[in-house]
This record gives sequence, structure tokens and C-alpha cells, in this order.
Amino acid sequence: MFEIPQKIEYIIEKLTQNGYKAYIVGGSVRDILLGKVPQDFDVTTSATPNEVISLFEHTVPTGIKHGTVTVVTDNTPVEVTTFRTENGYADFRRPDNVEFVSDIKEDLSRRDFTINAMAYNHQDSLIDCFGGKDDLKNKVLRTVGDPGTRFKEDALRILRLFRFASTLGFTIEENTLTAALEYSHLLENVSRERIFAELKKTVTGENFEVFSDLIICGGLEFLNIKKIPNFEKIKKHKNNPLICLYLSIDSKCLDQLKPSNSEREFFNAFDKLSLLNAPKTKADIKEMLNISSPEYTLAFFEYKEWDTKDLKQILQNHEPYKISHLDIDGKTLISLGFKGKEIGEILERLRKIVVNEPQKNKKEILINEIP
Ligand code: CTP
Repeated sequence: MFEIPQKIEYIIEKLTQNGYKAYIVGGSVRDILLGKVPQDFDVTTSATPNEVISLFEHTVPTGIKHGTVTVVTDNTPVEVTTFRTENGYADFRRPDNVEFVSDIKEDLSRRDFTINAMAYNHQDSLIDCFGGKDDLKNKVLRTVGDPGTRFKEDALRILRLFRFASTLGFTIEENTLTAALEYSHLLENVSRERIFAELKKTVTGENFEVFSDLIICGGLEFLNIKKIPNFEKIKKHKNNPLICLYLSIDSKCLDQLKPSNSEREFFNAFDKLSLLNAPKTKADIKEMLNISSPEYTLAFFEYKEWDTKDLKQILQNHEPYKISHLDIDGKTLISLGFKGKEIGEILERLRKIVVNEPQKNKKEILINEIP
């Protein structure tokens, strides 16, 4: 059942042969037990970072202070972290101190949810000290130990809780939910980028409705997120997280969450397209394409649930809608004696003509159309 990629097996075996304990841990164990193929594998070991570095040829000291060394095998980076406990979370995000320990159980006890607090290797099989396997079977999210303590240590866990509930379709154990809502004001300590990354995953989940609790309790008010999203509508757009986000959160709030440049461009395009009336003619669609791009206009049609037939036809037939599509350019206008501002004005007027009558996009015809 536990299929572990060769490269990961190699790391675990090498550590084991040298007298250390080593396991796959966290999300990969959870995903395997759920019958999914894990996206990535984290390894946890009793070896200290320096011992890990001395054993493998190619390593990168990614987070030595916190016990993490990246081992690169066949160009694949794998995070190998020393068993550790954590303490002092003054910023509600990261531990002030970590202490390396020799017992895997201690390491597992510092983790967020029971379903993420399991480890495995072929020799010892599954290490599950907190009932993670049962919680997976019963589809329940529960913190390891006291929920309030877990959320105060790292407020990001509150968003992770709702993300897992949404994407896995799990329910949240009562005390865990109560504490998550009680401490939701601590979310202000989480970086906007991390919040954005979690929300992006949460909005496409099967059970996104769970998110209402966090909004109702005011946990996201500091970001001006107060409205309960239209879940029915969002469900139709699961293949496009950006549309789901745009449907869930006001675009001004989205902007505060520090999206990447391309994500910001996407939201800006949607804002601009929203200002136009719904298109009634192909010419109206071309005006949308002129202020946006084919990609964003198509996504906007999807978001509005409009028929894309005419839009696709315009694109397939390469019908002109931009000044750069005109069969005439500024240089030609200069040679005809036009200057300065009037060149732009003429080109825009000609663009309007070909938007309505694409057959007129021929230099000779356009020259005759110049007033
Ligand atoms: N973890 C934690 N608290 C956090 C983040 C992570 O206790 N705020 C622990 C959990 O045991 C988690 C593991 O670190 O399983 C690895 O974290 P990460 O790779 O961020 O998440 P995954 O659980 O693997 O899930 P995903 O990749 O879907 O985010």
C-alpha cells in the first residue's frame, strides 16, 4: 500500500543504514492513506542537519536553524528535517526556538492536525500516535492536543483547517472549530501572501461552505472579507481558482492579498470588463477584446456564463479589433502628411470601422475612410 518513490527510499535507507531513524511524514502519509499520489514527500529523521549533510553528496542548507536540509537526488530536491519540538511563538507564526529530539513521537506531537501527524517507513510501518488514521476514515479534522495552543502557535493553521475541510470534504471536530474561530483574530499575523495561497486552494474545494463560519465570526474582517460567497455559483468554476476567488472576495480585498503580477492582471482585467455592458453584438465583444486579452475575455465569459460561440469565432477568424490589427499604420499616415495626435485619433476611428466591418481592413479602403 505504501508506495514510496525510489529517490525517497534511497534517502530513508541511507539514513537507516547509518544508524538513524527516518520516515516519510505529514502530507505524504495523509495522501497515501487517502489513496492519492502525494505531490511531494517530506522526510523526518533522528539525524541532525550536519549529520544529514555529511551523508549525502548534494545538499542545500535550506533551513538549518529549524533542522531542514534539502537533499538533492537525481535533480529532485527532498526536504529532510530533524525530529524536533518547538517553543515560543511570539509572532503567532514561527517558533522562536526549536530543539532537536530523538523520538519521532515528540516530533509528531508538535504538528497541526492528527491526519498530518503520522509517519511511515517500511521497517516500523505506520506511526500514528494521535488517531490520525481513524480521523481520516471518519473524515474528521482535529488538532493534535489542545486546539487553542496549536492555533496560537501558528495562526496559519486556522486557514489550513478550513482549507483541508473544504478540499477533503471533512468535518471539523467541535473543540477544534470553536478554538479556530476564537483565535481567528490572530490571522492578522499571517502574511498576506500565505493567506492568499491558502484561500486559492480553499475556494476550489468541494466543501467550501465550511468557510462561512470563519466569515461570520469576523475572522477575516481585517481584510474586509465580510460577505458570504455564492457557493452554488462558485462550484461551477472549480477548474479556475482565480474565477472562484473573484466570485468570493471583493477585488479590492484581493488586491491587498498581494497576488502575483499575472493574478493581479487577471483581476484588473475582470474589473475593467465588468464596467462594460453585457455584449449584444460581435462588435461589443471586440471592444472587450480591445481592452483586455483573448485569455481574460474568455475567462470573463466563463465567469459570466455567457455563450462563447461568437467570441471564439472572432478569434478563430482573426477578425481585427485592435489598432495593431489594422492594415494601415502610423508610418503610412505620416507619409500621407498626418502628424502628432491626429495619427492616434485616425487609427482609433479606423479601428472602430473595422470592428463593425472587418472586410474594410484593407489599406486602400482604409485610406479612403480617412476624413
Ligand atoms: N505543519 C504544521 N503546521 C503548519 C504547517 C505544517 O504542523 N502550519 C506540519 C504538518 O504535519 C504538515 C507538515 O508540517 O503535514 C508539512 O507541511 P506542508 O508541506 O506545508 O503541508 P502538507 O500537510 O504537506 O499539505 P499541503 O502540501 O497540501 O499543504
